[in-house]
Amino acid sequence: MLALSVFLAACATSPKATTYDQLGGASGIEGIVDALLEKIVEDERINFQFADADIVRLRSMLIEQFCAESDGPCTYSGLSMQESHAGRNIDDAQFNALVEDLIEVMTVRKVPVGTQNRLLKRLAPMHGDIVEP
Ligand code: HEM
Repeated sequence: MLALSVFLAACATSPKATTYDQLGGASGIEGIVDALLEKIVEDERINFQFADADIVRLRSMLIEQFCAESDGPCTYSGLSMQESHAGRNIDDAQFNALVEDLIEVMTVRKVPVGTQNRLLKRLAPMHGDIVEP
């Protein structure tokens, strides 16, 4: 009986938790983006791409985008992925490097793998607009 009520309680609460909540809400996402930007700066596979980047804007756009893509209370107001990445010659290896950095950051911050995968699943379709054909 105890097991049943624990099970029912879990069923009653879990559908309400969005990926945004599971990422730790606004402060969780800010922490992830800050750690990701630090990691990118150290990552010699991709840091040259960000040499002239406006990091303050990039930070706020990534926070907004991750919030929106995790079904949080935000609307992404930045450039499209095609506009912001066109002409940069980003290849698969660079794309994968950034995703790898993001996974590492989320893992260190103890984001559950299922939550990581839900966010990554929303970002993955952007590959075609970011990577040069
Ligand atoms: C899923 C993967 C990625 C996502 C979700 C993403 C997201 C974004 C966002 C939201 C912006 C800001 C757009 C704006 O300013 O309005 C941006 C800009 C940018 N991204 Fe990405 N990006 C991804 C992959 C990459 C990769 C792989 C590289 C290069 C290795 C890259 C390099 C850049 C650069 C250089 C900028 C412009 C920064 C500036 O000029 O200020 N991105 N990206």
